[in-house]
Amino acid sequence: MIKDFTILLFGLTLFIGCRQSTEPAQQNEAVNQSYNEPHRPQFHFSPEAKWMNDPNGMVYYEGEYHLFYQYYPDSTVWGPMHWGHAVSTDLVHWEHLPIALYPDNLGLIFSGSAVVDWNNTTNFGSTDNPPLVAMYTYHNMEGEKMGKHDFQTQGIAYSLDKGRTWEKYDDNPVIPNTENIHDFRDPKVFWNDATKNWVMILAANDRVKIYNSKDLLTWEHTSDFGLGHGSQARPWECPDLFKMTTQDGEEKWVMLVSIGNRIGINAPNGGTGTQYFVGEFDGKTFTNTQSKVKTSWIDYGRDNYAGVTWSDIPQDDGRRLFIGWMSNWDYAQVVPTKTWRSAMTLPRSLTLHRNADGYLLHSTPVTELSGIRNNTYEIKQTTIETNLDLSEKINPAQAELILEIKPNEATTNFGIELSNTNGEVYRVGYDVMNNQYYSDRTRAGKVDFSEFFAKKIHTAVRNSNNKTIRLHLFFDTASAELFADNGATVMTDIYFPDTDFSQIKVFTEGGAIELNGSCYDLTSIWK
Ligand code: FRU
Repeated sequence: MIKDFTILLFGLTLFIGCRQSTEPAQQNEAVNQSYNEPHRPQFHFSPEAKWMNDPNGMVYYEGEYHLFYQYYPDSTVWGPMHWGHAVSTDLVHWEHLPIALYPDNLGLIFSGSAVVDWNNTTNFGSTDNPPLVAMYTYHNMEGEKMGKHDFQTQGIAYSLDKGRTWEKYDDNPVIPNTENIHDFRDPKVFWNDATKNWVMILAANDRVKIYNSKDLLTWEHTSDFGLGHGSQARPWECPDLFKMTTQDGEEKWVMLVSIGNRIGINAPNGGTGTQYFVGEFDGKTFTNTQSKVKTSWIDYGRDNYAGVTWSDIPQDDGRRLFIGWMSNWDYAQVVPTKTWRSAMTLPRSLTLHRNADGYLLHSTPVTELSGIRNNTYEIKQTTIETNLDLSEKINPAQAELILEIKPNEATTNFGIELSNTNGEVYRVGYDVMNNQYYSDRTRAGKVDFSEFFAKKIHTAVRNSNNKTIRLHLFFDTASAELFADNGATVMTDIYFPDTDFSQIKVFTEGGAIELNGSCYDLTSIWK
């Protein structure tokens, strides 16, 4: 994506000159939005106003899930990056907090992570009051403008008051860019219990770099990974690395890498997306134990980018919790919302499964979401010849459906169709002949704000042989999330109907289906 930054940032240089003073910018005035604006998600996180991209610094501490995010408080398009901030006690309801990190004379604050320094290895706090430590990328505009290649460096900041206020470290940057790597960013830190030190992974153009540290301040580069592995589209961005245990008790390491930049062609259905690798990690080096040429994607929809996982989830919870940015750099800056731009995906729990082809990462929506179910409609086992209209039962603008479907021999295609009084239609379903899921937003409302938005129907391979097809779906005003076969295939797509979808039906073509399931209206998290 940085290709576009260069042009955009050049235009912003004058402005940034002022912004880089140490004077904090004012939190934007246009707060306290009603969350009733056209296309405003009702149960997804979105900023009150202005521009948001990647989730950053997700960490759990003292009962709060922190969510920081790339934020530009002065416009609804990308600009000088800050870290916006919100907290939640249940991953569903979010409280907005003031901006956590402002640009300073070292640069803008790009993506990064946060950890609890339990043993006070940094000496910023004490073991009684361990510091929250954020590690992020400085993007230095002046350097970039001068044609240098060392303008991205890594800095840290800490908080001693549960993330409410942050101090930048005096000796930033903690990792300068000595090799002049143009794309050198998005550090993700974790404590490695096996080696009793910190590990950090960051993206460096066409690979990731792994570092070790005893104190988060002094870092040693230990290895690189990536050349010739998976999707070689670049730049690689926003990596993550964590240990997972499969259902059979096998331990593996999973690496996430988002890939950006080349408009239209990278991820399976176009634009930016997130791939993953499964392998071993000895504390210094990651080894991919899957096929080198295989590319595995965390989500086949077009709107799940730059996602990483939460740090410091308590052991007795044990989940690997993930959230992504629900957009795509192909069109993120021109989507038709007025006062804000972008939302996050629903938080998801990741699990690793072994199958005949290797390892598969499943994503399932966090169970806390059941707390916003309102009205329930149970569908008893029923045969559908063509359609089952559910419009009287649930509101497709904010709904959750869990459906179990068995096609008969003649069935060619089935799914869920949302529509509105303008005749706009969104479909998500399963194409029996091609054994693939699909999401079709080509007729779902506004599409012509970008030639890259709705060029084709999005498809995703099915990763299960089960005769019953299980669809777990969330529709929220401007998005659909499909978790098929217990999260083995995921598709996240946004859409912009001129008026909210008000009709919903299950449809089948070619032959009948057997269906049972549960449908729920979901309540707004903002009211
Ligand atoms: C990913 C990304 C990151 C970068 C941030 C800047 O979307 O390009 O690599 O740190 O956005 O906002």
